[in-house]
Amino acid sequence: MKRILLVIGGGIAAYKTLELIRRLGERGYTTRAILTRAGAEFVTPLSVSALSGEKTFQELFDLTDEAQMGHIRLSREADLVVVAPATADLMGKLAGGLANDLASTALLATDKPILMAPAMNVRMWQSPSVRRNADILARDGVKFVGPNGGDMACGEYGPGRMAEPMEIIAAIENALAANKGALHGLTALVTAGPTQEALDPVRFIANRSSGRQGYAVAEALARHGAETLLVSGPVEIAPPQGVKLVKVTSAREMLAATEAGLPRDIAVLTAAVADWRPDVAANAKIKKSDQPENQNGARSISLVENPDILATLANHKHRPRLLVGFAAETDDVLAHAVAKRARKQCDWIVANDVSTDANGNSVMGGTRNRVHLISDAGQEDWPEMSKADVAQRLALKIAEQFA
Ligand SMILES: Cc1cc2nc3c(=O)[nH]c(=O)nc-3n(C[C@H](O)[C@H](O)[C@H](O)COP(=O)(O)O)c2cc1C
Repeated sequence: MKRILLVIGGGIAAYKTLELIRRLGERGYTTRAILTRAGAEFVTPLSVSALSGEKTFQELFDLTDEAQMGHIRLSREADLVVVAPATADLMGKLAGGLANDLASTALLATDKPILMAPAMNVRMWQSPSVRRNADILARDGVKFVGPNGGDMACGEYGPGRMAEPMEIIAAIENALAANKGALHGLTALVTAGPTQEALDPVRFIANRSSGRQGYAVAEALARHGAETLLVSGPVEIAPPQGVKLVKVTSAREMLAATEAGLPRDIAVLTAAVADWRPDVAANAKIKKSDQPENQNGARSISLVENPDILATLANHKHRPRLLVGFAAETDDVLAHAVAKRARKQCDWIVANDVSTDANGNSVMGGTRNRVHLISDAGQEDWPEMSKADVAQRLALKIAEQFA
């Protein structure tokens, strides 16, 4: 389902925007609207909400709204931002980088494409300043639909009438099609987080993986248009947008969910899968007195090897066209990573150093990463950056590979 953030400016054509909302709803779009103060002189928030089925947002400094849905989030939780009618004022504010109300702030803050349907008196539309602003916005990548020529509400004649709702819908569909992303049409699978290997109902063996890197990779792949499945071990991170999430606990469950997700064009395995699991997971809590001690007073846990998900996928009948493994190492990072790539027969290895920081604390589970990408083409050393930036760069590399 496609989500539109609709900014309704203060012009007479706002009445046509009500029809636009209705038509979008019929086509399965969800529309969330921001109504400017001037816009509310022409159509009521009640009409807008009744047609959109969503709350209509009006004020930047509305503490209740801001607590529930910050203006930044509002500006991003959409596939496209549509401004209809786009007043001379809203165009000027965006062209000039001004943000003094909710509509203009959301327009500046959004990371989504913007489509404007200008509507204004013909002299306003032809004024040098509006021409200039329209040029600036077009150069900045803003798309336009209309205005059309004809009789205007003000009694004059010429270009300035807002495009009709169905024309705006055609422009919305074009804008969304152009924005499908470099990985559109491809399917991806990402694993993330640690696995937990049960000793008994209350204890497990796990590791420090936070899942952040994998969640960021899944989000980046989805943002670039790949239909993305994320198989995640137990982590405390909000599900990424636009990604199908399957949660698992153990390595064996992760393997099963991963294989069930095949075939996929791309697989990026970032999960820190436990290599070993306790031989037996006790049905009841193991008691302090349960296990015999050896002569040294030590107790032991007998471990068996877990399935190797990366190697399994490399030899799978549905082997992904691009198989990327992550290697977290504490020593000889590159040598281990190169060996891992050869041993597991994956296409790329992203190696990261998870040894201790200056204070002796493990850096695994942090928010930043310094990685090396190892492929047939050789080795790339990326500078330290946030995990989101590593994910974005990796997604771009993957897009290049499939270009
Ligand atoms: C009756 C009336 C009609 C208006 N129609 C338009 C219009 O079609 N286009 C426009 O750019 N401004 C129009 N304006 C002026 C805008 O409402 C005004 O510039 C306002 O500040 C725009 O605020 P906004 O951009 O935040 O919606 C009109 C004003 C009035 C009083």
